Amino acid sequence: MKAIAAPGYGPLDRLAQIEVPVPSPGPGEVRVRVVASALNPADYKVLLGTMKFLHARNRPLILGYDFSGTVEAVGPSVAGVSIGDDVFGFLPYGPGNRSGAFAETLIAKCDELAIKPAQVSHALAAAAATTGLAAIQSIRDLGRLPADGGRLLVTGVSGGVGSIAVGIAKKLKAHLTAVGSGAGLERARRLGADVLLDRAAGPLPGELQQRFDVVFDTAAVYRWRQWRRTLEPGGAFVSTLPSLAYAADKLWSLFTRTRVHFLNVKSRPADLRLLASWLEEGLEVPLASTIPVREVAQGLAHLQEVGGRIAVQVAGGF
Ligand SMILES: NC(=O)c1ccc[n+]([C@@H]2O[C@H](COP(=O)([O-])OP(=O)(O)OC[C@H]3O[C@@H](n4cnc5c(N)ncnc54)[C@H](OP(=O)(O)O)[C@@H]3O)[C@@H](O)[C@H]2O)c1
Repeated sequence: MKAIAAPGYGPLDRLAQIEVPVPSPGPGEVRVRVVASALNPADYKVLLGTMKFLHARNRPLILGYDFSGTVEAVGPSVAGVSIGDDVFGFLPYGPGNRSGAFAETLIAKCDELAIKPAQVSHALAAAAATTGLAAIQSIRDLGRLPADGGRLLVTGVSGGVGSIAVGIAKKLKAHLTAVGSGAGLERARRLGADVLLDRAAGPLPGELQQRFDVVFDTAAVYRWRQWRRTLEPGGAFVSTLPSLAYAADKLWSLFTRTRVHFLNVKSRPADLRLLASWLEEGLEVPLASTIPVREVAQGLAHLQEVGGRIAVQVAGGF
């Protein structure tokens, strides 16, 4: 089968089309014929060697986490999914993941995907997978936003995670303050954000008068200690990136009435099903563009520079 791969870690332009054997599913696994994928910062972080732990150290290195496609083979002990089903989800962000979605087929665990609704395109399903679950698991699970709504602040609303988080915040009935820049901020207004803050103009976190139940720092540029005085008692600061500073903040937060968490997003079927139902209802996945898989290197360079959500057409894209 065809795949876009690199011979090892290095610059993005080492990505090229290669031929590799078609993989066979093991116990609990399925082989998916990939129709669409999407670009994530994790793709360039692994390839450039800054976060190698997000993927197995394969050579050649086939990347791509989000996928939507059709099950074409099932291994032993597979339940809940059959050959011919359209499914979507994402591969694990971790050293155990040897598969990649920038390829004609991939191997996924049957309990890490969900059925794609017929009305939702493969490109939108793939583009919503990581980012949508990152938002759900950060705001609802780690943040514990009150079920009847609550006050939420999201940073980086131009980005892949931040832009879908705006629509998901409204599904979770949050009163939303969106922090971002330019067109992304304007889009957040259109998608229902209640308060807009231009990150270049301020005010800075410590100067805000409002109190929040959850601050979701998708941009991963802030620290809990900058926000702790704007958090309600029991409120949480959730970041998308671990750091040494995070460990120190976690320890310090134990002596306060606020919480700090770092997201480790998982492709959980129940969350994918919830996301699928919202996509059917029209949840917007703000896409910057859709590119053929042969242009993944250029797409990743753009993502690294600008951010945002880029879908990848894999079927017919080589
Ligand atoms: N831990 C996990 O499980 C997990 C899961 C998914 C993603 N992630 C990580 O989450 C991060 C965001 O992912 P993404 O897909 O949304 O990335 P992205 O598309 O590159 O978006 C990042 C956004 O952050 C904002 N930003 C950039 N530089 C900034 C700065 N200096 N100050 C403040 N804001 C800035 C920008 O939005 P504005 O211009 O609107 O501010 C930008 O669009 C990445 O690091 C990714 O690796 C982690």
